Amino acid sequence: MSVISEFSFSKSFYALTLAALLSACSGTQDTENLYTALGGEAGVEEIADNFIMEIAYDDRVIAYFEDANVDRFRQFFIEHLCMLTDGPCVYTGDTLIDTHVGMNVTVAAFNAIVEDLMAAMNKAGIAIGTQNRLLARMAELREQIIQM
Ligand code: HEM
Repeated sequence: MSVISEFSFSKSFYALTLAALLSACSGTQDTENLYTALGGEAGVEEIADNFIMEIAYDDRVIAYFEDANVDRFRQFFIEHLCMLTDGPCVYTGDTLIDTHVGMNVTVAAFNAIVEDLMAAMNKAGIAIGTQNRLLARMAELREQIIQM
């Protein structure tokens, strides 16, 4: 592992750990529905569009998405994000395990995607506390995505 990827690994690892810890300390804003805190339908769509842009310019992960259908990914990522944040959606895509099996997603790639999502949320103006609540939920999905 190069110094650069080691650095980026530890940065993401600490970001996720910190997110989990911070979200465990419940402040008053944590009582707000997370989907609402993200801006509801418009907010989640903006995050997804920013996220797709971040992925498109991210050399660390773009190869994974070479054969992906962007419209399908967008639709199901939005549905999944909505469901994950207690929004009023039913997720109709494939399970995360079935979707990511055989992709050989590495820990470094997972952490890079988390950083892309953080950048997407920053661009959408999402408050850090709200970002941490979502990152904590994403961290719980880790084993379904990294199946090496
Ligand atoms: C917690 C993190 C993640 C979540 C919540 C997530 C969620 C999703 C969802 C909902 C889909 C669409 C499923 C469908 O088409 O039925 C999807 C597709 C996909 N994901 Fe992820 N994903 C995550 C992490 C990753 C990572 C780390 C990678 C690779 C670096 C990745 C690569 C892909 C690719 C390439 C597709 C498109 C598959 C295709 O259309 O053939 N995902 N993901």
